[in-house]
Amino acid sequence: MTFRPIGIFDSGLGGLTVLAALRTRLPREDFIYFADTRFLPYGNRSEAFIQNRSRKIARTLAAKGVKAIVIACNTATAAAAETVREAVTQPVIALEPAVKPAVALTRTGVIGVLATSRTLSSNRFQRLVQNHASGKLVISQPCPGLADAIEIEGPESVRVESLLDAYVPPLATAGADVVVLGCTHYPWVLAGIAARLPGNAVIVDTGEAVARQVERRLQGERLPGGYGQLRIATSGNPRQVHETIARLWGVSLHVESWRL
Ligand code: DGL
Repeated sequence: MTFRPIGIFDSGLGGLTVLAALRTRLPREDFIYFADTRFLPYGNRSEAFIQNRSRKIARTLAAKGVKAIVIACNTATAAAAETVREAVTQPVIALEPAVKPAVALTRTGVIGVLATSRTLSSNRFQRLVQNHASGKLVISQPCPGLADAIEIEGPESVRVESLLDAYVPPLATAGADVVVLGCTHYPWVLAGIAARLPGNAVIVDTGEAVARQVERRLQGERLPGGYGQLRIATSGNPRQVHETIARLWGVSLHVESWRL
């Protein structure tokens, strides 16, 4: 069997929350995870910048022989899903804030969405809300600084705590009973978000739904199978990424340095 991993990327290590769901669902698949940490965060960058980076990353992954590409970043999906699809011939699986499942879950009719400014201001997100949440009140809460604080200072850092204090309670005050994690970094601070919401609030993440979608795509394209291997690469400092993974996942993994 030839080595045909699934390529997966994010601005940093938020996409590891998606990778974890993928590895649980598809333990025999091989993965190459690319963290674009040299350019983290994507959340306040221009659309053109994110499109350029995403195109470059997708082509690099394609050149390494991946059989599919997962965009494990809401911000890159919002800005560049079409760009990535045009850049490569492999199936591309993108993710978006779980507004549709939230509509089915809400009882108060108020849904909170935590995401980057770039995701929330995108046409793609506006369309998602218009097409699937009409009749509901969707409160979009941009969270500048949160993804990078989680990654650089750690999920339990003082900085993260104070950002959560600023971003989460307004959703509770507005009556949101469902809160969507619209950025793949945020599952790392799930407990901190839950602690700032009423006990009966539901928090929705996309990791598992994406894993199911990847599984369906691979079966549909007759592409499943591998050895269960994982490679990690970064455009930034491999040592730093190694340390962050050790802190977040508690494992010591070799991290490759890719100049792109
Ligand atoms: N993890 C990313 C997302 O899902 C982006 C965070 C960032 O780089 O700003 O949106």
